[in-house]
Amino acid sequence: MTMHVHVYERAWMWAAGVIIVLFLGTLAYAAVAQGLRPPSHVEMIDPRTVWDDPRFAERGEVTQADGSVVVTAVAMTFAFQPAEIHVPAGRPVTFRLTSTDVQHGFQIVGTNANTLVIPGYVSQFTTVFKTPGEYLIVCNEYCGTGHHMMSAKLIVEAAP
Ligand code: CUA
Repeated sequence: MTMHVHVYERAWMWAAGVIIVLFLGTLAYAAVAQGLRPPSHVEMIDPRTVWDDPRFAERGEVTQADGSVVVTAVAMTFAFQPAEIHVPAGRPVTFRLTSTDVQHGFQIVGTNANTLVIPGYVSQFTTVFKTPGEYLIVCNEYCGTGHHMMSAKLIVEAAP
C-alpha cells in the first residue's frame, strides 16, 4: 500500500525543512565564521577576580576629556555596583559591565540601553540620554531567587 501525500502538503513539508536548515546554517555561520560572542564587546575577564581587576577596581562614572562619560559597573546576585549612577544628558555614555557570578541583564527602562552581562566577558555599549530624569535599571535575565529585587538607579542630569 502506498500512502498518498497531497502535493501542497509535500511542498510545505519541504519548505519547513529548508527553513530549519537555513536557520541552523545562519547560527553555525555566526558561531564559526563570525565568532559569535556575548553582545556588544569582545573582551574577556576572569569572573573570580573581578574585584581585583584594574578595569573594575573603580566603579562609577568617569568624565572623559571630550565630555563623554564612561560608566563602570558590576552585576552580581542580586545587585548592581554601584547602585546609583549619575550621567549628563546629551553626551555619549559608555557602559562597561561584567558579572562576578551568573548571567544578568542590564536594562535601563524607557531607553534603548539593554545588554546581557555574562560572567567571563565585559559588555560594553555607548548611548546618549536625551531626557534628564530618574531611570530604573533592572536585571532582565533570570539569575536566581533574588532576581526580581535586582535593580539600580540612573540619574540623568541636565548637562551644564
Ligand atoms: Cu540578575 Cu536577574
